[in-house]
Amino acid sequence: MRHLISPLDLSVEEIDQLIALASDIEKDRSRYAHVCDGKKLATLFYEPSTRTRLSFEAAMLNLGGSVLGFSSADSSSAAKGESVSDTIRVISSYADICAIRHPKEGAAYVAASKSSIPVINAGDGGHQHPTQTLTDLLTIHSLKGRLSNMTVGLCGDLKFGRTVHSLIHALARYSGIRFVLISPPELKIPDYIRETVLDANGIEYRETTNLDDAMEELDILYMTRVQRERFFNEEDYIRMKDCYILDKEKMKFAKPDMFILHPLPRVNEISVEVDDDPRAAYFKQAEYGVYIRMALIMTLLEVEKPC
Ligand code: CP
Repeated sequence: MRHLISPLDLSVEEIDQLIALASDIEKDRSRYAHVCDGKKLATLFYEPSTRTRLSFEAAMLNLGGSVLGFSSADSSSAAKGESVSDTIRVISSYADICAIRHPKEGAAYVAASKSSIPVINAGDGGHQHPTQTLTDLLTIHSLKGRLSNMTVGLCGDLKFGRTVHSLIHALARYSGIRFVLISPPELKIPDYIRETVLDANGIEYRETTNLDDAMEELDILYMTRVQRERFFNEEDYIRMKDCYILDKEKMKFAKPDMFILHPLPRVNEISVEVDDDPRAAYFKQAEYGVYIRMALIMTLLEVEKPC
């Protein structure tokens, strides 16, 4: 039995296989409509979500399975003090696979250690969000035809943004990847990522506070929201929340084939006027989240690809 807690739980070859399977699913969804008949997915969401929870549920329903779960800690027995460990022991006898989102870093890891069904980390605090990363990799691969040899700009809240942490871990394993890390000084990527992922693997990167200057060198621009829920005080959030706003003016400096990704939800960091730009890929990215989660569920449940 396998879990997915970090993107590094999957080898590059396994990620490539997931991307190939997801691409096949996108081409002919109906072929996969019954491969998980009789299987159940539990979604244990202790934190708010739109895309991750609903795309997991859509993925399982598309595969012929069914779903159960809760969408907030308040509506589960966590509100009465039940631990994640006890919850997952119980859920293991109700479902075949589980996706868990929790505000505490390491919660998915703890759940996996007590689980007798595969556990998927759907976001643990400011730590990791591996299925968003799989979605991002599928999106980049579909748009650019490759995951190597490109300059990727990561902009916004690089300190608390778990999608950024997971994406750096994953992309650092492909050749010729260069990062431009664009953030206010207070929201730079954590030292452990700089030291153990970028420096340790000799990955080329530069840090800057200036989005305008970086635009022309980027092949992908990954915008992120300032993570209000992880700030210790509202004043700091208000000071930094609009530090970057991507608009039509800034897009004039971008390459004609520089695609914009964003894990969503968006607040102000991408002006709605950019949505009509053919390089705006964030809504397509959200759609890809369903295909890659279908591929992941099939893989973790060891379901055969239909002939
Ligand atoms: N990208 C993402 O995790 O979105 P949700 O918070 O809506 O799940």
